[in-house]
Amino acid sequence: MDCRNLTANDIPQLVQLMVRAGASVARSTSPEVFQAVCRDACARRKPPCFSIVVTEEEEKLAGYVVAHIGGPAFWRAFACRHPMIAGKILLKRGNGLLHRLRQNPRMKPVPPSSPSASPDASPNSQCQFTFVLADDGSRSWQDPGLRIARIQHIGVHPDYRGRGVGTRLYQRLFTTLIEIGVTRVDANIDRDNVASLRMHHRTGWRIVDKQGYFFATIDL
Ligand SMILES: CC(C)(COP(=O)(O)OP(=O)(O)OC[C@H]1O[C@@H](n2cnc3c(N)ncnc32)[C@H](O)[C@@H]1OP(=O)(O)O)[C@@H](O)C(=O)NCCC(=O)NCCS
Repeated sequence: MDCRNLTANDIPQLVQLMVRAGASVARSTSPEVFQAVCRDACARRKPPCFSIVVTEEEEKLAGYVVAHIGGPAFWRAFACRHPMIAGKILLKRGNGLLHRLRQNPRMKPVPPSSPSASPDASPNSQCQFTFVLADDGSRSWQDPGLRIARIQHIGVHPDYRGRGVGTRLYQRLFTTLIEIGVTRVDANIDRDNVASLRMHHRTGWRIVDKQGYFFATIDL
Protein backbone atom coordinates (compact mmCIF):
# COMPACT_ATOMS: atom_id res chain seq x y z
CA MET A 1 0.00 0.00 0.00
CA ASP A 2 1.76 3.14 -1.26
CA CYS A 3 1.25 6.60 0.18
CA ARG A 4 1.49 9.61 -2.13
CA ASN A 5 0.57 13.27 -2.43
CA LEU A 6 -3.02 14.07 -3.41
CA THR A 7 -3.80 14.58 -7.12
CA ALA A 8 -6.80 16.36 -8.64
CA ASN A 9 -8.25 12.99 -9.81
CA ASP A 10 -8.45 11.78 -6.19
CA ILE A 11 -10.64 14.66 -5.00
CA PRO A 12 -14.19 13.23 -5.47
CA GLN A 13 -13.23 9.94 -3.78
CA LEU A 14 -11.28 11.67 -1.04
CA VAL A 15 -14.21 13.93 -0.16
CA GLN A 16 -16.41 10.82 0.23
CA LEU A 17 -13.80 9.13 2.41
CA MET A 18 -13.41 12.24 4.58
CA VAL A 19 -17.16 12.29 5.18
CA ARG A 20 -17.09 8.57 6.02
CA ALA A 21 -14.15 8.94 8.43
CA GLY A 22 -15.82 11.84 10.23
CA ALA A 23 -13.27 14.44 9.13
CA SER A 24 -13.38 18.03 10.26
CA VAL A 25 -11.27 20.81 8.73
CA ALA A 26 -11.29 24.19 10.46
CA ARG A 27 -14.02 22.51 12.54
CA SER A 28 -16.19 22.17 9.44
CA THR A 29 -17.62 18.83 8.36
CA SER A 30 -19.05 20.14 5.08
CA PRO A 31 -18.10 18.26 1.85
CA GLU A 32 -17.97 21.64 0.12
CA VAL A 33 -15.22 22.79 2.49
CA PHE A 34 -13.34 19.49 2.03
CA GLN A 35 -13.48 19.94 -1.73
CA ALA A 36 -12.08 23.49 -1.53
CA VAL A 37 -9.31 22.32 0.78
CA CYS A 38 -8.38 19.48 -1.61
CA ARG A 39 -8.34 21.79 -4.62
CA ASP A 40 -6.19 24.26 -2.71
CA ALA A 41 -3.76 21.48 -1.72
CA CYS A 42 -3.36 20.42 -5.37
CA ALA A 43 -2.83 24.01 -6.54
CA ARG A 44 -0.24 25.10 -3.96
CA ARG A 45 2.67 22.95 -2.83
CA LYS A 46 4.77 25.54 -0.96
CA PRO A 47 4.00 27.06 2.46
CA PRO A 48 1.64 28.60 3.36
CA CYS A 49 -0.41 25.69 2.00
CA PHE A 50 -2.30 22.51 2.74
CA SER A 51 -0.43 19.24 2.38
CA ILE A 52 -2.53 16.12 1.82
CA VAL A 53 -1.18 12.58 1.60
CA VAL A 54 -3.41 9.66 0.56
CA THR A 55 -3.04 5.92 0.28
CA GLU A 56 -4.98 3.47 -1.85
CA GLU A 57 -5.83 -0.21 -1.70
CA GLU A 58 -7.25 -2.06 -4.73
CA GLU A 59 -7.51 1.27 -6.59
CA LYS A 60 -9.67 2.79 -3.86
CA LEU A 61 -8.54 5.42 -1.39
CA ALA A 62 -8.02 3.82 2.03
CA GLY A 63 -6.73 6.76 4.05
CA TYR A 64 -5.61 10.38 4.10
CA VAL A 65 -3.92 12.96 6.24
CA VAL A 66 -4.57 16.70 5.89
CA ALA A 67 -2.05 19.18 7.31
CA HIS A 68 -1.79 22.93 6.95
CA ILE A 69 1.31 25.08 7.22
CA GLY A 70 1.40 28.79 8.02
CA GLY A 71 -1.00 29.38 10.92
CA PRO A 72 -3.28 32.46 10.85
CA ALA A 73 -1.44 33.90 7.81
CA PHE A 74 -2.37 30.79 5.89
CA TRP A 75 -6.05 31.08 6.78
CA ARG A 76 -6.15 34.74 5.70
CA ALA A 77 -4.68 33.78 2.29
CA PHE A 78 -7.11 30.84 2.03
CA ALA A 79 -10.05 33.16 2.77
CA CYS A 80 -8.97 35.46 -0.09
CA ARG A 81 -8.81 32.53 -2.51
CA HIS A 82 -12.10 30.97 -1.35
CA PRO A 83 -14.25 33.80 0.06
CA MET A 84 -17.54 31.87 -0.08
CA ILE A 85 -16.09 28.85 1.70
CA ALA A 86 -14.35 31.07 4.26
CA GLY A 87 -17.67 32.82 4.88
CA LYS A 88 -19.35 29.50 5.60
CA ILE A 89 -16.58 28.45 7.99
CA LEU A 90 -16.76 31.82 9.77
CA LEU A 91 -20.53 31.65 10.10
CA LYS A 92 -20.26 28.22 11.67
CA ARG A 93 -17.37 29.07 13.98
CA GLY A 94 -18.48 32.56 14.92
CA ASN A 95 -16.29 35.06 16.71
CA GLY A 96 -13.63 32.62 17.86
CA LEU A 97 -12.10 32.30 14.40
CA LEU A 98 -12.48 36.01 13.62
CA HIS A 99 -10.46 36.74 16.74
CA ARG A 100 -7.77 34.23 15.68
CA LEU A 101 -7.54 35.72 12.18
CA ARG A 102 -7.01 39.18 13.64
CA GLN A 103 -4.22 38.00 15.92
CA ASN A 104 -0.69 39.12 15.23
CA PRO A 105 1.01 36.12 13.59
CA ARG A 106 4.14 36.97 15.56
CA MET A 107 2.40 36.52 18.88
CA LYS A 108 4.12 34.61 21.64
CA PRO A 109 3.12 31.01 22.31
CA VAL A 110 0.16 30.72 24.62
CA PRO A 111 1.21 29.35 28.03
CA PRO A 112 -0.22 25.98 29.00
CA SER A 113 -3.54 26.06 30.78
CA SER A 114 -2.39 23.47 33.29
CA PRO A 115 0.84 22.37 34.96
CA SER A 116 2.76 19.70 33.08
CA ALA A 117 1.51 16.19 33.37
CA SER A 118 3.60 13.78 35.35
CA PRO A 119 5.34 10.82 33.71
CA ASP A 120 3.34 7.62 33.67
CA ALA A 121 0.07 9.48 34.19
CA SER A 122 -2.89 7.84 32.51
CA PRO A 123 -4.35 10.31 29.99
CA ASN A 124 -7.79 8.84 29.99
CA SER A 125 -9.71 6.67 32.32
CA GLN A 126 -10.93 4.60 29.35
CA CYS A 127 -7.37 3.79 28.21
CA GLN A 128 -6.14 0.34 29.13
CA PHE A 129 -2.49 1.39 28.89
CA THR A 130 -0.12 4.12 30.01
CA PHE A 131 1.49 6.99 28.13
CA VAL A 132 4.51 9.00 29.12
CA LEU A 133 3.15 12.54 28.88
CA ALA A 134 5.65 15.18 27.79
CA ASP A 135 6.48 18.33 29.71
CA ASP A 136 6.22 20.53 26.63
CA GLY A 137 4.15 23.43 27.88
CA SER A 138 6.04 26.01 25.81
CA ARG A 139 4.43 24.67 22.67
CA SER A 140 1.01 25.61 21.42
CA TRP A 141 -1.29 24.91 18.51
CA GLN A 142 -1.28 28.67 18.00
CA ASP A 143 2.48 29.02 17.45
CA PRO A 144 2.97 30.87 14.14
CA GLY A 145 5.37 30.14 11.32
CA LEU A 146 5.93 28.49 7.97
CA ARG A 147 8.01 25.79 9.61
CA ILE A 148 5.15 24.43 11.71
CA ALA A 149 2.50 22.14 10.23
CA ARG A 150 -0.78 21.37 11.95
CA ILE A 151 -2.73 18.19 11.37
CA GLN A 152 -6.30 19.04 10.43
CA HIS A 153 -7.37 15.42 10.23
CA ILE A 154 -6.09 11.92 9.63
CA GLY A 155 -8.57 9.24 8.64
CA VAL A 156 -8.48 5.62 7.53
CA HIS A 157 -11.38 3.73 5.95
CA PRO A 158 -12.94 1.49 8.64
CA ASP A 159 -12.04 -1.66 6.61
CA TYR A 160 -8.32 -0.86 6.86
CA ARG A 161 -7.91 0.40 10.42
CA GLY A 162 -5.46 -1.20 12.85
CA ARG A 163 -3.09 -2.32 10.06
CA GLY A 164 -0.53 0.46 10.29
CA VAL A 165 -2.07 2.59 7.51
CA GLY A 166 -2.24 5.70 9.71
CA THR A 167 1.39 5.23 10.72
CA ARG A 168 2.49 4.96 7.08
CA LEU A 169 0.48 8.04 6.11
CA TYR A 170 2.33 10.03 8.76
CA GLN A 171 5.71 8.70 7.59
CA ARG A 172 4.96 9.84 4.02
CA LEU A 173 3.59 13.20 5.18
CA PHE A 174 6.73 13.86 7.23
CA THR A 175 8.91 13.22 4.15
CA THR A 176 6.83 15.72 2.14
CA LEU A 177 6.94 18.29 4.94
CA ILE A 178 10.71 18.00 5.41
CA GLU A 179 11.14 18.64 1.66
CA ILE A 180 9.28 21.96 1.98
CA GLY A 181 11.16 23.10 5.08
CA VAL A 182 8.78 22.16 7.90
CA THR A 183 10.57 21.29 11.16
CA ARG A 184 7.68 20.59 13.53
CA VAL A 185 4.17 19.12 13.37
CA ASP A 186 1.37 19.65 15.91
CA ALA A 187 -1.95 17.88 16.34
CA ASN A 188 -4.89 17.87 18.73
CA ILE A 189 -6.34 14.54 19.87
CA ASP A 190 -9.70 14.04 21.54
CA ARG A 191 -9.42 12.52 25.01
CA ASP A 192 -11.49 9.48 24.13
CA ASN A 193 -9.79 8.68 20.80
CA VAL A 194 -7.77 5.67 21.92
CA ALA A 195 -6.76 4.47 18.42
CA SER A 196 -5.44 7.94 17.56
CA LEU A 197 -3.60 8.24 20.88
CA ARG A 198 -1.95 4.85 20.35
CA MET A 199 -0.92 5.73 16.82
CA HIS A 200 0.57 9.11 17.82
CA HIS A 201 2.32 7.57 20.81
CA ARG A 202 3.82 4.76 18.76
CA THR A 203 5.04 7.11 16.01
CA GLY A 204 7.06 9.18 18.48
CA TRP A 205 4.87 12.24 19.14
CA ARG A 206 5.21 13.99 22.48
CA ILE A 207 1.75 14.13 24.04
CA VAL A 208 0.79 16.92 26.42
CA ASP A 209 -2.32 16.81 28.56
CA LYS A 210 -4.29 20.03 28.04
CA GLN A 211 -7.09 18.78 30.26
CA GLY A 212 -9.91 19.01 27.70
CA TYR A 213 -7.84 17.32 24.96
CA PHE A 214 -4.31 16.12 24.17
CA PHE A 215 -1.82 18.30 22.30
CA ALA A 216 0.66 16.20 20.31
CA THR A 217 3.87 17.58 18.84
CA ILE A 218 6.83 16.10 16.96
CA ASP A 219 10.11 17.51 15.62
CA LEU A 220 11.03 16.40 12.10
C1 LIG B 1 -7.00 7.11 14.19
C2 LIG B 1 -6.86 6.35 12.87
C3 LIG B 1 -6.45 7.34 11.77
C4 LIG B 1 -5.74 5.31 13.04
O1 LIG B 1 -5.51 4.71 11.79
P1 LIG B 1 -4.94 3.21 11.73
O2 LIG B 1 -4.57 2.91 10.33
O3 LIG B 1 -5.89 2.31 12.38
O4 LIG B 1 -3.60 3.41 12.60
P2 LIG B 1 -2.50 2.34 12.96
O5 LIG B 1 -2.94 0.95 12.53
O6 LIG B 1 -1.20 2.84 12.43
O7 LIG B 1 -2.45 2.45 14.55
C5 LIG B 1 -3.63 2.38 15.30
C6 LIG B 1 -3.34 1.94 16.71
O8 LIG B 1 -4.57 1.97 17.44
C7 LIG B 1 -4.95 0.66 17.80
N1 LIG B 1 -6.37 0.61 17.61
C8 LIG B 1 -7.07 0.54 16.46
N2 LIG B 1 -8.39 0.56 16.72
C9 LIG B 1 -8.52 0.67 18.06
C10 LIG B 1 -9.63 0.75 18.95
N3 LIG B 1 -10.89 0.73 18.49
N4 LIG B 1 -9.38 0.86 20.28
C11 LIG B 1 -8.13 0.89 20.74
N5 LIG B 1 -7.03 0.83 19.94
C12 LIG B 1 -7.23 0.71 18.63
C13 LIG B 1 -4.16 -0.26 16.91
O9 LIG B 1 -3.97 -1.52 17.49
C14 LIG B 1 -2.85 0.52 16.81
O10 LIG B 1 -2.11 0.50 18.01
P3 LIG B 1 -0.80 -0.44 18.19
O11 LIG B 1 0.09 -0.08 17.05
O12 LIG B 1 -0.26 -0.03 19.49
O13 LIG B 1 -1.29 -1.85 18.10
C15 LIG B 1 -8.17 5.59 12.48
O14 LIG B 1 -8.57 4.81 13.57
C16 LIG B 1 -9.31 6.51 12.06
O15 LIG B 1 -9.45 6.86 10.89
N6 LIG B 1 -10.17 6.92 13.02
C17 LIG B 1 -11.30 7.83 12.74
C18 LIG B 1 -10.81 9.24 12.48
C19 LIG B 1 -9.98 9.76 13.63
O16 LIG B 1 -10.29 9.55 14.80
N7 LIG B 1 -8.88 10.46 13.29
C20 LIG B 1 -7.93 10.98 14.26
C21 LIG B 1 -8.21 12.40 14.59
S1 LIG B 1 -6.89 13.01 15.69
